[in-house]
Formats: sequence, structure tokens, C-alpha cells
Amino acid sequence: MAFNPSVTIRRAQILLPDGELMLGDVEIRNGTIAQVAPEISPTPDADIEIEADGLTLLPGVIDPQVHFREPGLEHKEDLFTASCACARGGVTSFLEMPNTRPLTTTQAALDDKLQRAAQKCLVNYGFFIGATAEILPDLLQATPACGIKIFMGSMHGPLLVDQEVFLEKIFSQGDRLIAVHAEDQARINQRRQEFAGITDPAIHSTIQDNQAALNATQLALKLSKKYQRRLHILHLSTAEEAELLRQDKPAWVTAEVTPQHLLLNTSAYEKIGTLAQMNPPLRSPHDNEVLWQALQDGVLDFIATDHAPHTLAEKAQPYPNSPSGMPGVETSLALMLTQAAQGRCTVAQVSQWMSTAVAKAYRIPNKGAIVPGYDADLVLVDLNTYRPVLSQDLATKCGWSPFEGWNLTGWAVVTIVGGQIAYEWGKLHTEVRGQALRFDGE
Ligand code: DOR
Repeated sequence: MAFNPSVTIRRAQILLPDGELMLGDVEIRNGTIAQVAPEISPTPDADIEIEADGLTLLPGVIDPQVHFREPGLEHKEDLFTASCACARGGVTSFLEMPNTRPLTTTQAALDDKLQRAAQKCLVNYGFFIGATAEILPDLLQATPACGIKIFMGSMHGPLLVDQEVFLEKIFSQGDRLIAVHAEDQARINQRRQEFAGITDPAIHSTIQDNQAALNATQLALKLSKKYQRRLHILHLSTAEEAELLRQDKPAWVTAEVTPQHLLLNTSAYEKIGTLAQMNPPLRSPHDNEVLWQALQDGVLDFIATDHAPHTLAEKAQPYPNSPSGMPGVETSLALMLTQAAQGRCTVAQVSQWMSTAVAKAYRIPNKGAIVPGYDADLVLVDLNTYRPVLSQDLATKCGWSPFEGWNLTGWAVVTIVGGQIAYEWGKLHTEVRGQALRFDGE
């Protein structure tokens, strides 16, 4: 068992579950929040006191979609470097995707990831089980898994499930949450041929267009309704999909959006070229606006980064050989809190979208709020200082960010995972380890 010091955080602006901020203290014992009060009397046996004057205390971010590349693709990222990046970014838990090598499609592969994470991860971890057209028995049984991941498009090999007949089989069996990468592979294939030979990466958004995303989201929604199956739409990216959900969103359906689909658009290709290339692609300023409104209105439920690092050498290949994906866990919270500082949303909404709502959708007990009895996964952020995103500061192995140079506030100053300080004032405590997440009902 890790040493769990008792910690008292003093004079923080504490975000309470009702969205109000309270100036006060938080006491942590045995990895759990013990007390939240305007003033907690000095405890003689407290191991650590954190003076949080001027800082804001939020529930730790739960990032529900990341690609951390281990095992098999460790030249891009591994569970240690990725979890260091999480700690620096105020992310205390993550849900990781199955497109590692081997693919996470069996209990054995899932167990291997859990073991690796227990040895290497500074923050808490959970993993998806990947669906294949074969529908292996482990898809329904492997545990603990946060859900089933289906790539309806934008994937090669066994993880691509793009035929309705196989999708229907998956939707009709069991009751685990199904999370979909919704893009219509047949349409993408056809448009790839149409636009073959173009090496300007901006063509990526034309090839994998809004219609490709809408087609797949419509199909997933249809199957979810037919079987009343819990469905989560990953990185929803278009105005059309948001409007579809606004008209017709069953209570058991959730959807997420990434900071990059809110804050970047196709103009980014001119500035950062293939670093802006991801799946689903960046869209237009109009899509940005509609996605923001959908998030504000609760049509979209929460935020994920889709942290998908590739090396700069890989990204330097000309389109379409350049891989899709961008890192995100280190910048997501500061990006969103900067939006709050600029009046686009509130700090309470950011926390709702990046922690509370994620814990609810994935049924992760005792996380996502600052209340006694909950796990002490917390982040102290500084909303008074601005600092630019600089690649040399990043812990992600890929060493770059699509937001390089953006001047942000709300950076994590102290990140606490299960009562242990994983990051403080620029320093990582690399000996800290997170725990495997639990999912109620799984
Ligand atoms: O751009 C992306 N890259 N989107 C995904 O969904 C997968 C990811 C990757 O693994 O590189």
C-alpha cells in the first residue's frame, strides 16, 4: 500500500457541488476527503499543509478518451510519460482506448494493461475493451472495463467494425456502455479516391466530411434506440450531429466534444499543417459555435481530449501518410479555464464537463465532486496568472502541442491523486501511483 499522508489544504477557493465557490479548508485522510469547511482547526498529526491562498480547488479532471500507446507503440508515448502529462494537466483519472499492440480485445490484453498501469501510472486508470467483427466472448465479459469501444470508421484492421450487421450484433448483446468513433468508412474510402493526390492536409477535413460523421452517428443512434442500449458518442465534431442530438437524444445516450473541436477549426492547417490532422477532423468556425452552444445547453455532456500523440517525425510525412491525432491531457483544463476567464462559460461548468459528468456517465463511484467521503482526487489551479503553452515544458513523449504559444490561465499548480501529491509547483512526484478505476454495474 502506498503511504497516504494526511493533508490539509488551507484557504482555497473550493468549488462545491452546487457550483458555488467557498473560501475554506479541505482535510484529506487515507486518500479520502474527510472534511470541507470554512476553517478546519489545526490537526497536530497532519503530515502536510498546503497553503492555497489565491488558488482554486477543483475535482481532478477525468479524461474519458485517451490513447496512451502502451503496449506496442511506446516510441510515441507510454503509460508513465502520459500519466506524468496527466498530473501536470490536473487530470487525475483517464479512460484509455484499445488501439494499442496487441489490441485490447481480450481479458489477457486488458490484464496486461492494468498491470502495466499499476506499475507506472501516477494517476488513476481505466481501459476500454475493443470490439471486432468477430465479437469475441471477452467483449462482453472482460473486466474491469469502462465500456466497449467501436471504431465505426477511421481505423484499419480488426478494430474497424463498419458493417451494420456486425454493429447490430454488438448492440443487441449485453448491456455495457458502447462508445463509438462515428465516421462512415465507406464514404471516407470513396472520397479518398476522389481527392487522391492532394497533399495539402486541409483536404483531410473535406475527405472525412461532416456527412461522414453524421451518417455514422445516425446509425449508432438508430441501433441504440432499437435495443435501448447505453451509447456514448466520442469526440462529436459537427453542427449536424449536435442538431440531430438536440432533436432526438434518448436519456441513455451521452456525447462528448474535445477542446480542439471547440477551439480550433480548418484555419489551423495553414498555421500548423499536419499537426492539426486528427479523426474526426477539425471543422469550420460555424461547427465550433454550434458545438459550444450544444455543450452549454447540455446536448453535449462532457469533454475528452482524445490525447493521441505521434512523433514529430511521423507528423512530418506529407499528407496522407502523416498520422491523425494530437496530444491533449496537459493543456485541456487550462484551455477550458481560459475560456471561463474570458466569460465564455463558468469555472463550475468546466468542472462539470471535465469531471462530474464523466464520473456519472461511466458510473465511477466517489469521484467528480469535493464532498466528504469522496476520493481525494483534486487539482489546485491558478486563475490569476497567464503562461504560454511551450513544448519544452511538456511531459508527453511526443513533445509538441497544437496549442503551442497559446497564453493560458488556470494551469494546475498542485495535483492530488488519492490523497497523494503527484505534482506541485512544476515538480512531478514520480513515485506516486494511481489506482484502477471501478465502474458500478460492471
Ligand atoms: O486522430 C485520431 N487519432 N483519432 C482517433 O480516434 C485515433 C487516434 C490515434 O490513435 O492516433
